[in-house]
Amino acid sequence: FCARSATMLQTARTTEELVAIKEQIHARTSPLATLSKAMRNLPPKDRPRVGSMLHEARAELEAALKAAETRVNELELSARLAAEHDDIANYLYPGRLRGTGALHLITQTRMILEDLFTSMGFMVAEGPEVETEFHNFEALNIPKYHPARANQDSFYLNYGEPESTLLRTHTSPVQIRLMQSRTPPIYAVVPGRVYRRDTPDARHTPAFHQLEALVVDRGISFAHLKATIETFTRAYFGPGIQARLRPAYFPFTEPSAEFEITCTICGGDGCRTCSGTGWIELGGSGMVHPKVFAHVGIDPEEYSGFAFGFGIDRLAQMKVALKDMRILPDNDLRVLAQMRGVL
Ligand code: PHE
Repeated sequence: FCARSATMLQTARTTEELVAIKEQIHARTSPLATLSKAMRNLPPKDRPRVGSMLHEARAELEAALKAAETRVNELELSARLAAEHDDIANYLYPGRLRGTGALHLITQTRMILEDLFTSMGFMVAEGPEVETEFHNFEALNIPKYHPARANQDSFYLNYGEPESTLLRTHTSPVQIRLMQSRTPPIYAVVPGRVYRRDTPDARHTPAFHQLEALVVDRGISFAHLKATIETFTRAYFGPGIQARLRPAYFPFTEPSAEFEITCTICGGDGCRTCSGTGWIELGGSGMVHPKVFAHVGIDPEEYSGFAFGFGIDRLAQMKVALKDMRILPDNDLRVLAQMRGVL
């Protein structure tokens, strides 16, 4: 029985076969079990000898069983792996082209502007979109009853409370944060999202983007402001463009100016001058107001500075001759798909 079982174990190829052999070995009617039972009929002096023979036979069979199990497991595993490998090969689909994403037009514009200003020696800074009234208005010399502070123009988070906060209405509060946290010289640009309670139309969305520039150093003059604006508008729109300043008023700059460029429409065929007055307004600018310097503890006798700010969306719109700004925040895939590499 033992020799026959051992041979069967050695040649078994499946788990089922092994289970059957194992059952035979462990069966209560197996020769081994029968012999064990018959022990009690033996004279006591023969029992140890026969007992240890039985024990040895059992141990050998168990070892053979273990070895067979290991062998059969490996056999079955490699058979299964081979079969599964065939499965994968059979079920492979032909490759499919997946569309990759594109950077949003605003992101592309912001990156171009950041590159441009960093190449001119500016650092890029950011500030919070939820601002304190102090940073958004007070420190910028926008007095309490200035119309821009009325609730209908700004999104307040807790209007009327003593420490009220709002969605910033421009990137200028970051001027304050920069001057509070750094000592001049400061050459920084601040791109970011800003919010106003505007009714959306072809040229306005309630959330849009601005880029703020701030320079504070010794001996900074209005000429530096003008040259910086000329340089960046030409770098962005092309050398054919002209920039000019027009007197304006902002509470946080003195003197203040709006800057305009020669009106351009750009398309796939390049940029050209459009009709009308021939000029289009881009943003606001001016020399940092002494009262603003006072709020951040910078000595206006030692330092002077300029700042300007403009809409990134508007610049993007002009470059691609976009008719309606409202498509920009819409996330319409048909529009987004066309944004790849337009700039
Ligand atoms: N913050 C102004 C606006 O939002 C623009 C501006 C920036 C004007 C810096 C002067 C200096 O319209």
